[in-house]
Amino acid sequence: MKTERESLGSRLGFILLSAGCAIGLGNVWRFPYITGKYGGGAFVLIYLIFLVILGAPIMVMEFAIGRASKKNIGGALKALEPKGTKWHWYGHIAIVGNYLLMMFYTTVTGWLISYIFSTAKGDLSGLTPAEVGGHFTHILSTPGPMIFWMILAVTIAMFVVGRGLQNGVEKVTKIMMSALIALMVILAVNSCFLDGAAEGLNFYLKPDFLGMAEYGVDTVIFAAMGQAFFTLSLGIGAMAVFGSYIEKDHSLTGESLRVIGLDTFVAIVSGLIIFPACSAFNISPDSGPSLIFVTLPNIFNQMNGGILWGSLFFVFMSFAALSTLLAVFENIISYWMDVWLFSRKKACIMNFFLIIVLSLPCILGFNVWSDFQPLGSGTGVLDLEDFFVSTTLLPLGSMIFLLFCCIERYGWGFKNFTAEADEGKGPKFPRWTRLYVSYILPFIVLFIFIQGYITTFSKL
Ligand code: ALA
Repeated sequence: MKTERESLGSRLGFILLSAGCAIGLGNVWRFPYITGKYGGGAFVLIYLIFLVILGAPIMVMEFAIGRASKKNIGGALKALEPKGTKWHWYGHIAIVGNYLLMMFYTTVTGWLISYIFSTAKGDLSGLTPAEVGGHFTHILSTPGPMIFWMILAVTIAMFVVGRGLQNGVEKVTKIMMSALIALMVILAVNSCFLDGAAEGLNFYLKPDFLGMAEYGVDTVIFAAMGQAFFTLSLGIGAMAVFGSYIEKDHSLTGESLRVIGLDTFVAIVSGLIIFPACSAFNISPDSGPSLIFVTLPNIFNQMNGGILWGSLFFVFMSFAALSTLLAVFENIISYWMDVWLFSRKKACIMNFFLIIVLSLPCILGFNVWSDFQPLGSGTGVLDLEDFFVSTTLLPLGSMIFLLFCCIERYGWGFKNFTAEADEGKGPKFPRWTRLYVSYILPFIVLFIFIQGYITTFSKL
């Protein structure tokens, strides 16, 4: 028996859910450290430009595909494509992208949740910096506890998704996102008022074009483009599904700009939490996992009230990660409901076990399988999975959505796309961009795709 398709209860729910899907590790972790690395404010400036010229049009397209078809991406392309074309093949591949993203996201979310407890219990208090580093190394080397925390993360998210779209995902995301924003403002104010914060703020926000030039402008531009894709979760239909749950009373260009605005706010404020704290305690901000799991716990160790601030920080981080988990799980579940006609309950039970099993290789990659270094020395399963998602499927999928929405006869076409995007109150998709989105943007995305492969394989 097929019941009526669910929809979201409010516009705020739609914006916060889409923003929750976008806001994640990419904002609170990846953005601050690549910004610090690539010249602070100079990088932020370039990143903002790419959010608008690259991220925004593709996000409008994803929402439009979802809203016009009222289906998950697994069925959306089929519903809109001209007869005889094969765009819909990508719908299933996009869902594979969602699974791949979750295969490492669940593990990192598990680390974050475990750090809430170890910080609150004071397990890290009084440790030397080397011992704090040792705590993280120990976590990575013992699969058992990591599997426990990963399963806890999957259980929380799947339980919420299992409660339904409005009663579960929408309700919980609204609460979590409001708490996240409140928490981050409190944490940022605390950081910015520490003695010695100014130096960190300077490093983070002052445009350093010379520093940027040292890395090579092309490297920095490439990093900014990649970050724009990752942070907005574009190219795998994760945004499209929320388009499929809304009515046509607001234009999609306006809604996309709101979601991007929220995402950017969280990214920038995350840096305001991290960099001033680093400079106040004279600790150089590291990149990668050690920034969050070693450098910052060391800082909280030295801070007055460090247990409180540290615990709040990891609650904030866990909320950001969980909001993405909820959104992507919802996309996966709706795929099984829309395309294979599963009930929500059946889809949730099956995927609960499936996602746990799929998350194991990432965990084992840090210990039992640590000899497997697929992308060069020091890399592991997580890097390989990240490569398949961030370097492959996000740009590939974005390219497919772009072509689908711009090719008139063999695709959905620009006219259909803009008619859908413009329905409702709010700014319309600018027509003068047609030449740009049809003929220039696909090449930019192709460049990102090729450059990603060159960068990855030249390191081998
Ligand atoms: N958009 C998600 C993030 O930023 C994947 O973490």
